[in-house]
Amino acid sequence: MKIEVFLTGQTLTDEDVRGYTVVVIDVLRTSSTIATALSNGARAVVPVADMAEAGKIAANLDQASFLMGGERGGKKIEGYHLGNSPLEYDRATVEGKTIILNTTNGTSAILHAREAEHLVVGSFLNAGRVVDFAREKGRDVALVCAGWRNRISLEDTLCAGLMLHRLWEGREPAAVSDSAHIAFTLFRNDGGNLHEAIEHCNHAQRLSEIGLHADLNYCTRVDALPVLPCFDDSRLVLYPPPGEDRPGLTRPAPVERATPNAA
Ligand code: MLT
Repeated sequence: MKIEVFLTGQTLTDEDVRGYTVVVIDVLRTSSTIATALSNGARAVVPVADMAEAGKIAANLDQASFLMGGERGGKKIEGYHLGNSPLEYDRATVEGKTIILNTTNGTSAILHAREAEHLVVGSFLNAGRVVDFAREKGRDVALVCAGWRNRISLEDTLCAGLMLHRLWEGREPAAVSDSAHIAFTLFRNDGGNLHEAIEHCNHAQRLSEIGLHADLNYCTRVDALPVLPCFDDSRLVLYPPPGEDRPGLTRPAPVERATPNAA
């Protein structure tokens, strides 16, 4: 199993992901939000790249069936129901709903990877489920760090390093890519004190400046949410829990379409 690491997700091409098991990692906070929403009973999460697309999808759905979530600059987009703090996506809020999610880097990184053979969303919260899935599929793996505005995010790279450490059982192979070596070495250096390392990353500073420091504590709880968001038919749904015999996906019931207004 070859493992590639992309340190930012905005320049990913279809050729980079075709045939691969792809894990999109956006620790602060898109991946953590998606895992939390699905874990709390959201029917599905539809990642969109921009507000126009979000509006188009929403216009065709029954108003009671969905919530619009997302951020720009870390803050809730005006007019949306929710921002991008996973703490907003509690069961009382999201159960049974389809979430249309629009964020700065995370959702576009997911959409850049949609030609993957298998596309899942990874974070510290569900790292164990992601590693088990990658092993189960046995395909070459691409760990795609969303990054931030085409820059490397320390927290995403650290999370990729954690996954590498587990997939390689702690021993780095002789021949690995430079980006995989960087991620693995970063985790070997900082993995023993993850929370401290992330407290000082750029994105943590940005979130603290807008009063969202609580998200850091939440998003750095390793293996706290053993769920696997899997991309299927343009939406993210929960992959069946281990042991279920169905190899397919847990497909949500079709969402009621808004009935056209009577003329
Ligand atoms: C992103 O998509 O860049 C992040 O998730 C932004 C954020 O939630 O702060």
